Amino acid sequence: METEKKMQTQVELTDSDLSEQIKAVTKDSHVRAENTELMLAYQRGKVSLTQYKLLLCSLYEIYQALEEALDSNSNHPSVAPIYFPLELARLESVERDLEHFYGQDWREKIVVPAATKIYAHRLRQIGKDNPEYLVAHAYTRYLGDLSGGQVLGRITQKSLGLKGGEGLSFFSFPGVSSPNLFKQLYRSRMNSIELDEDERIGMLEEAVRAFELNIQVFDDLQKMVSVTERESELMHTTTRNRCTRHAS
Ligand code: HEM
Repeated sequence: METEKKMQTQVELTDSDLSEQIKAVTKDSHVRAENTELMLAYQRGKVSLTQYKLLLCSLYEIYQALEEALDSNSNHPSVAPIYFPLELARLESVERDLEHFYGQDWREKIVVPAATKIYAHRLRQIGKDNPEYLVAHAYTRYLGDLSGGQVLGRITQKSLGLKGGEGLSFFSFPGVSSPNLFKQLYRSRMNSIELDEDERIGMLEEAVRAFELNIQVFDDLQKMVSVTERESELMHTTTRNRCTRHAS
């Protein structure tokens, strides 16, 4: 069954470039990611502060692991062509946003669901054992951030009424003047990576896995949002009841 799937990937995709192959092979996963409850909330233009803060916490873990893995493999032949720390690195911008929302001691306050830890663990493992697959993860996150991510930034700003870009550094890429041109460059760099057949198939499978890991993070995070919002509602009700009792 697994071999059959591999064969299919081989047959369907032999003639195109890596950037085309990766886009084709993750097309269904992209639709599934767009249809997670968290991304649907975004598309309805209704993201809550709880959702955004929890998302930033997970992004911190993810980019810390991804960028550590990229940095330590920056000379690897499959990483060097797509290594753009000045243009793409997100870790510092997520840190700035976390400080904005949680204060200086944000490191003690952030909460991360199990799925995020699993994703970060996978990134570290790939960085150690299969750096040639890092491109699958870098593509999934960075090209996503430069595509739909730009819309998500505007929705976050509007939904939360954030002024002057405060708390929104994650979405801003000062080193990229045209996301579309940059994506073209990135795709051509991806296409220059030399992979043998097994590596190519492994890489495409890793890209599907990268989307899957993101979907799991969004689902786990949304469960946390529901609990947090229920708890704060309960606290409000209790406080309101207390106040009413005191008043009477
Ligand atoms: C590309 C929308 C969520 C990863 C795109 C594009 C759009 C888009 C309009 C450009 C397509 C093109 O240039 O052909 C959205 C929307 C989302 C969403 C509305 C949710 C509300 C995600 C998520 C991920 C992701 C959660 C991954 C974690 C990507 C990637 C690309 C992309 C990797 C580049 C595709 C390529 O050109 O190869 N997205 N997206 N997207 N998105 Fe998303």
